[in-house]
Amino acid sequence: MKYRLNNSNYCTFDIFEVNRMPGRSYFIPYPDRKSADAVTAKEKRYGSEKVVCLNGEWDFKFFPRPAELPEELDTDTFAFDRIDVPACWQFRGYDRPFYTNIRYQFPFKPPYIPTTGRVGTIFTWMGCDQGISPKRTDPGEEYNFVGVYRRTVELPDPGKRVVISFLGVASCLDLFLNGRFVGYAEGAHNTAEFDLTGKVNQGTNELVAVVHRWCNGTYLEDQDMFRNNGIFRDVLLRISDAHDIADIDARTEKTGDTWRLKLTAEVFEAANITFTVEGPGVKRTATVASSGTTASVTFDGLTPLEWNAESPVLYSVYYETPTCCVKERIGFRTVEIRGDVFLVNGRKLKLHGVNHHDTSPVNGYTLTPDEIERDVRLCKEFNIDTVRTSHYPPDPLLLELADETGLYIVDENDLETHGTWSHQLPPTYNTISHNPKWESHYIDRISRLYERDKVHGNTGIIMWSLGNEAGGYHNTDAMYHWLKERSTLPVHYESAIHCKRIAYDVGSEMYPSVQMVHDAGEHCRKQKQLNDRPYFMCEYAHAMGVGPGNTEAYWQQIYQYDNLMGGCVWEMVDHAVLHEDGRYTYGGDHGEYIHDRNFCVDGMFYPDRTPSVGAKIIRFIYRPIRVTWMEGSRFELFNTTAFSAGDRYRLTFTWNSGETAEITPKAGPLERETVTVPVGRGVNGTVMGVVTCVDTVTGRTVSEEQLTLAQTLAEAPKSAAAPEGVSVDAKGLAWQLPDGETLAAAEQGTLLYRAATDNDTDMFFRNTMLPYIQQKEQPVSCEKTENGWRVQTKVSNKKAAFMVTDTYEGTADGLLVTSRIHCVSGGGILPRFGKSFRLNACFNDVTYTGRAGESYCDMKEQFPIREVRCRVTDMTEPNIRPQESGNRCDCTVASVSDGKVRVTFTAVGAPFELAVKPYSDKALAAMKHREDEERTGTYVTVQAFQQGIGTGACGPAIMPEYQYDAKKDYELKFLVRAERIG
Ligand code: GAL
Repeated sequence: MKYRLNNSNYCTFDIFEVNRMPGRSYFIPYPDRKSADAVTAKEKRYGSEKVVCLNGEWDFKFFPRPAELPEELDTDTFAFDRIDVPACWQFRGYDRPFYTNIRYQFPFKPPYIPTTGRVGTIFTWMGCDQGISPKRTDPGEEYNFVGVYRRTVELPDPGKRVVISFLGVASCLDLFLNGRFVGYAEGAHNTAEFDLTGKVNQGTNELVAVVHRWCNGTYLEDQDMFRNNGIFRDVLLRISDAHDIADIDARTEKTGDTWRLKLTAEVFEAANITFTVEGPGVKRTATVASSGTTASVTFDGLTPLEWNAESPVLYSVYYETPTCCVKERIGFRTVEIRGDVFLVNGRKLKLHGVNHHDTSPVNGYTLTPDEIERDVRLCKEFNIDTVRTSHYPPDPLLLELADETGLYIVDENDLETHGTWSHQLPPTYNTISHNPKWESHYIDRISRLYERDKVHGNTGIIMWSLGNEAGGYHNTDAMYHWLKERSTLPVHYESAIHCKRIAYDVGSEMYPSVQMVHDAGEHCRKQKQLNDRPYFMCEYAHAMGVGPGNTEAYWQQIYQYDNLMGGCVWEMVDHAVLHEDGRYTYGGDHGEYIHDRNFCVDGMFYPDRTPSVGAKIIRFIYRPIRVTWMEGSRFELFNTTAFSAGDRYRLTFTWNSGETAEITPKAGPLERETVTVPVGRGVNGTVMGVVTCVDTVTGRTVSEEQLTLAQTLAEAPKSAAAPEGVSVDAKGLAWQLPDGETLAAAEQGTLLYRAATDNDTDMFFRNTMLPYIQQKEQPVSCEKTENGWRVQTKVSNKKAAFMVTDTYEGTADGLLVTSRIHCVSGGGILPRFGKSFRLNACFNDVTYTGRAGESYCDMKEQFPIREVRCRVTDMTEPNIRPQESGNRCDCTVASVSDGKVRVTFTAVGAPFELAVKPYSDKALAAMKHREDEERTGTYVTVQAFQQGIGTGACGPAIMPEYQYDAKKDYELKFLVRAERIG
């Protein structure tokens, strides 16, 4: 069949759709109630005889030169490749993955985008990878690529109504059927539907879809993510009878003590429609004849159980005609802003949220139903109750599952123009959003979001979000008013604070400091709109690499002030590309001419959804019951939920001396109570316990909390002859172990730096650790003492110089090492102070007592103190970009062994922080990918301290209380013992 494919829709500013159907609710019709009842939310899309899912292999041709797209394409003779739908072509061998954060991939001249010629020179003043000076980049042979898709579909009955739904196509779609143009759509994450009724043949029909890499609408899709293309969500062919349902709506409203439910349906042709709602305590049904093609019914006086994320009670709603049944599950809940407090069902609540992108390391934007379900499940397992769908509407399945499992949703519009800021001087955000020419494009996007998702606006969706980082305000105002005419839900838009608007219904900010949050709580922010309405952190706690640090401090504020709504961690999952050989790549690894390195690798979960320590930190901070020791045997319990009675949870206190105690909390939502719990006897003056909290409804352990009531550590033993095999020279210790191995001072025996974490670099990739990594050590003196040695070394970096004085002294319990540091010039901060030792890699077994996982001083509570046995390689975290990791706080003892000899480090006077790594910190500092992590030994570093982590990659740097003043003197003391074990 022949097609004239070429047209200019993609580059014609006024055209963002041709023949696209008006927006409507997403739903899946079934022939009858029985079949509608028989499927789960996940199965629904694929189980109806009225919906043919067109997923699977399609013919595909990629045009790297758009000028070569033929004037006339003859599908009977054209040689196509094959591609699966849904998929992103960059993940199927066409083009390559391309990651850029803020900058557009093409020259900034809105609304113009490259057509058939080269992309051309791109001006940016923000060169994240090359410094901050203005820059011109010529990408060379780079084009607005085109992909042409084709498939056939058999239709037995051309008399039916046929609608095709594309749930996601980037960037745009020209659709053709049986040789003729059907229509055009922009808005990558919006549903594009075309009515094929009367255009289909009996038997074989041929569909052709032309997808351009960029269209004018791409200016509105400048989200921080891999820039993928293709038909990336499901394609559905909806085959309906004349009297089938064409659209639905449901609106719940609380009227006094009871509820009203208004159900509306539209049919293709007039029909009798039966509306039903049923569930616990509610069963109503009514049949009405449509007037024209619509009908509605209102059920009053309902007394349902109310929905909330903690107890997500749903009711089944049926819209039935003689030929069709649409089933939806809805909840009854209110959302209201009273003064400056955000209320659900009349209760104040705190949103324990995350930002969720659709990201897969093997499929790009495409998530399978199982993967969507897994992400929702992970939220629940990690005590997360809110998802902001950053930065576009998710697959509708996510909304259904959120209603079902209990998640609040901030449903975000597919809109971001962040690049307006980085391609123009002076930088400004508002170029597009304050230009009325774009208004219709904005209204199109917000209306598509609302129309598709409105039914979920009764349940999980608690706010609409106008988009992300697009400035304002003419067009954002227009979207706001459009929504306000249709929905009672609050409207969120963070970028309002970057334009004259400052806020819409809630004051929203990203990455504020704790002080800013506190000031919002106190109503003393400069912008009054952050004081006079609920305050929300749409993004905070940037979870890139190790971290986020210092997150708890936000919650100390949030729980203190009613106007603080909580916030959403940035972000749930790392974006990276997984290759067949197991490698992960990130920005710049694919030859991107503009990129932002690993700034996409900033999630709480690795790309394969393995939780990183970040996820464990957040799970702990979002725990439903908090326990604080007050004094004696009195403890405060704080119920951080909004709806759950304390007795939903069971607490078990397990003391280090073996006693246990069980408590059922009584505190109601957001209430505190004081309880008396028998405290254990302790062991040698140390009284510690772990409180395990179980949710009796789900059976899940929701938190484990460390309590330290008293801690007594061994004092230094008496001096005695140095252990056999020990020798010390100006370079430090060299200990011949009984099995012939050596424990020696590492090449850098005193460590004052760490390999930069992502949070040690800012969003311009300026590395704050750089001055410290260039560390020099100069021997000053080494002298013998009665039972040992005294060594002095001058250690310097670009900021300061220090005299480090180490003494090694024999005792009956081993070698006592004391290290003192004193600043002799310069100042600033001291990132770390530790003594580092090297052993051969055969020392692979580690045992220690301390925080049972990666911990730093501003993020350690996620792991209780325990004895842990593991391998050296378990002591670092598999960050996609290797960096400092695996520190352990509050250690009292640690040993490494090769099965024959055990070398033990015991804290004296105060616990130490421990690092055990399979390579040196210096080598680590130069690594870029996981596969660079070559093992060269066992490196044990015993530290007096290491500074906190903070969230400096995109947010506040390390708080002063977690930093160490270089000008102060510090001391580190520990015993080293070596003993044969095998
Ligand atoms: C925000 C933005 C996110 C992401 C984040 C940094 O400014 O909204 O999309 O870029 O910063 O990772």
